[in-house]
Amino acid sequence: PDTATIDASGDLRLAGVPLGAVAEEHGTPVYVFDAATFARRAASYRDGLAAHYPGEAEVHYACKAFLNVAVAQLALRHGLHLDAVSIGEAQVGRHAGVPGSRIHLHGNAKTHDELRLARRLGVGTIIADNLDELRGLAAVAREGGELGVMLRLAPDVAANTHPHIATGAAASKFGIPLERLLDAARIIAGEPKLRYEGLHCHIGSQITDLPPYRAAVRVLLAAAGTLRRRYGWTTRSISPGGGLGIAYAAGDPEPDIGGYVKTVAAEVVEGCRRAGLPLPKLICEPGRSVVGPAMVALYSVVAAKPLAAADGEADAYVHLDGGMGDNIRPAMYGARLTALPVRDARRPARRVVHLSGRYCESSDVLARDVHVPELSNGDVLAVPAAGAYTLSMASAYNHVPRPPVVLVQDGHAHLITRRETYRDLMARDAGLPDPPVAGP
Ligand code: LLP
Repeated sequence: PDTATIDASGDLRLAGVPLGAVAEEHGTPVYVFDAATFARRAASYRDGLAAHYPGEAEVHYACKAFLNVAVAQLALRHGLHLDAVSIGEAQVGRHAGVPGSRIHLHGNAKTHDELRLARRLGVGTIIADNLDELRGLAAVAREGGELGVMLRLAPDVAANTHPHIATGAAASKFGIPLERLLDAARIIAGEPKLRYEGLHCHIGSQITDLPPYRAAVRVLLAAAGTLRRRYGWTTRSISPGGGLGIAYAAGDPEPDIGGYVKTVAAEVVEGCRRAGLPLPKLICEPGRSVVGPAMVALYSVVAAKPLAAADGEADAYVHLDGGMGDNIRPAMYGARLTALPVRDARRPARRVVHLSGRYCESSDVLARDVHVPELSNGDVLAVPAAGAYTLSMASAYNHVPRPPVVLVQDGHAHLITRRETYRDLMARDAGLPDPPVAGP
């Protein structure tokens, strides 16, 4: 994060707050949210679009990367709209004071009930993922009045990222295949209460090069041209989705938000000029690149175990008090991360270890072959770039309560999500009926 510093005694601070003190006060694991990093990254998108795109533009924060009430409030304060992928996310946004008109609803399996709820929440636009959904939307619009729709296309653009998080291929589960575009248009044209707003695509996540985005914009504009010729429709909005990657460890490429925005904006301007299309509203939907670097995860070292047989360069497991329950990315995508001690942070990293999680699962190793200083039990480690797709994908596996989130800003720390409790974990259980069901 932008505000990370090492103070005179060698201790790591975020926004002036010593991370060791956060760990002491709230326990570990704990996630620390740097409001300044979030704000600066949001501003890079917002101001970059204002500088490079002559038309109207909006930044929609992709809530799936990380959401709580404070973050929805911050997003609103920094001029962002919300990309919600479920009614649950939209509810958080509404609860935080985000007007429904600033929320777009995504998702590939929205039920009719959810579509009705979206209307009740005042959600601005529904991004239709498939033809069945469009038919459902037409029915919901007939019941209750006009609905704004964007079409999510499967642009058939390959992005260089982990196959689990690539979404732009023609065979993807997401989006309307290009050859079905006119079928989709026919459904909209047949229902006067559906209002065509524009086109969307999302080619994947943790993408670090820009050419696939240019290709995606070209596909969207070609489709806009087709809809104009065949139906006389104006595509008022286009969104090439989110997906810009971040650096997780030293040596990782660190894509620049400004360069990304400039490239996408130029491609839209140039493409519209060539095709004689009016400039649409340009929507960017970043999640990871806004919130990823804004959070640091803190774990305590619980135990260490020398490796009994060779496994990479490491000579030991260092067991931490968190792991795949709060961050499943290493187990799920082979994601890499780094860690450094919060006290005496400048100690030379002389050891190579596996940082193992506490969950009952062999794949629960947060980082393999990482360089760390000599560590003792009780030492607190900080994992940077831990904001995106960690807590939002967290589980209570092994009945381990999910960690709290502490916001830091200008030397102050404020708890924005408390730690889950054992009581929370049992709150939905009813137990056996009384009198009990017949047993053996
Ligand atoms: N827009 C749409 C329609 C999306 O599907 C996504 C992410 C985004 C925007 C935001 O993408 P971002 O800027 O955060 O890359 N759990 C995976 C990532 C899944 C991304 C899903 N869609 C991971 O941990 O890498």
